[in-house]
Amino acid sequence: MDEPGQAQGSQAHGGQEQGGQEQGGMAQPRGAVRRGPGAAGLPPEARGSALVGVVPALRADAPRFLLRARSELGDVFSFRIGPRRRLFIAHPDAIERVLVGNNTNYRKHSVYQKMRPLLGDGLLTSEGERWLRQRRLIQPVFHKRRIAGFGDVMVSGAAAMCDGPWARAAADGRTLDAAAEMMRLTLTIVGRALFSADVSGEAETVGRALTVSLRHANARMRSIVDVPEGVPTPANVRFSRARRELDALVYGLIEERRRAGLASAPNDLLTLLLEAGAPGGGDGEGMSDRQIRDEAMTLFLAGHETTANALAWTFLLLARHPGERRRLEQELDAVLGGRLPAVDDLPALERTGRVVQEAMRLYPPAWAIGRRSLAADVLGGYRVPAGTDVLISAFVTHRHPGLWDDPEGFDPDRFLPERAAGRHRYAYLPFGGGPRQCIGNDFAMMEAKLVLATVAQRYRLALVPGSEVATEPTVTLRPRHGLAMTLERRS
Ligand code: HEM
Repeated sequence: MDEPGQAQGSQAHGGQEQGGQEQGGMAQPRGAVRRGPGAAGLPPEARGSALVGVVPALRADAPRFLLRARSELGDVFSFRIGPRRRLFIAHPDAIERVLVGNNTNYRKHSVYQKMRPLLGDGLLTSEGERWLRQRRLIQPVFHKRRIAGFGDVMVSGAAAMCDGPWARAAADGRTLDAAAEMMRLTLTIVGRALFSADVSGEAETVGRALTVSLRHANARMRSIVDVPEGVPTPANVRFSRARRELDALVYGLIEERRRAGLASAPNDLLTLLLEAGAPGGGDGEGMSDRQIRDEAMTLFLAGHETTANALAWTFLLLARHPGERRRLEQELDAVLGGRLPAVDDLPALERTGRVVQEAMRLYPPAWAIGRRSLAADVLGGYRVPAGTDVLISAFVTHRHPGLWDDPEGFDPDRFLPERAAGRHRYAYLPFGGGPRQCIGNDFAMMEAKLVLATVAQRYRLALVPGSEVATEPTVTLRPRHGLAMTLERRS
């Protein structure tokens, strides 16, 4: 999830910027990187344009600007937005130190605070003791054995999409926005995984309220002027209404289930959260309704947009690499023989897994992670004063030529065990690392593989010729203009 870096997310990504143009091949980085004089003990500084600094370049295409700065300045450099100096680290050793080795010295910082009105004090937004207690309570909910039960929800959601709207679109030769389709699908899946059938009748309300809330959270993270929540601007009023609707739904479900007893409750994430939060859990007090609500909302939000983007980029890459698509289809035909996939098929769907891994290498949905140092530290040989904002970008590290052969190429087999052997653990970090690593990692991989298998078994997706493809690095790395694609039904 997120953190386009305070650096980019909150300030540098206004609404108007053009993302990196990816049409027909790889993007050309824009914005000059000028080296500032690295004072003794300080890393070199990316200066950007002499007149306006780095902000326009970050706005135009932050991931590509950072990639280019790394290739010119090395694995540790700084850049400034306003008076504040930020540190960028690209080397896995330094990343490991921040996320794992010395993680207690690094805290998440304020971009998450702007999500508090929606998420409250859930895993994504909390810190310190409070976070640790919640993480310990919730970790077992995401045990592989438990989440395996959601495989059916994932496959049936994807199959319904393929048999319904996609079948009609294919028959009519209609163009679809594959990115929007994936967003809708993963929202349905996480909604059902969280609240089972309970919300199917209210799915539209939930979807609408969530969309309004997400837009609001995104807009707040991007805006330079932060209008306080209490000011009745039209956006704030819309958001308050949406949040009330979501709260009414979630608190209603919690109350219903507590009243009826968990023994008869549906087997979904909400029930698992209620069980995990029952008195006796954690420090003995369990979780309050408010905490359950905050965690449910956090999983709702964190649990769909990233996976949707991973899938959307996967379809784009397969459309651009027909040889890889054919190899994937061969695996699907051999393992599944035309039937729908199930969780038990996943070990045999090795190539399917590698395709998803490689798509997330080139387009990591959570493209940047930010931290702030509490005390001074040393990273990559440079002194890091207390209070420094440190930015890590999976996008940059995943394309580091010292870590990856042909880093811009699409080559799923680089994840074959024999080729991955000896690779630094933090050369690849789509789910972050250390104690705050994504809790939904296994859920997301299972979902991406099952959806890809279900769809690619039936359809070939082709990008509409001439359509513009660009990255939009906001909270997640998404296709800026969507992905206009046509469907060809496989016989
Ligand atoms: C491809 C899909 C996904 C990607 C790439 C992804 C990526 C990430 C990353 C990089 C972090 C760490 C952020 C940081 O350290 O600042 C994170 C945290 C988190 N993710 Fe995911 N995520 C995905 C799917 C999911 C799903 C499906 C769920 C839940 C159902 C989820 C729930 C969370 C939560 C709750 C956290 C915060 C964990 C904590 O701080 O304890 N994510 N995710």
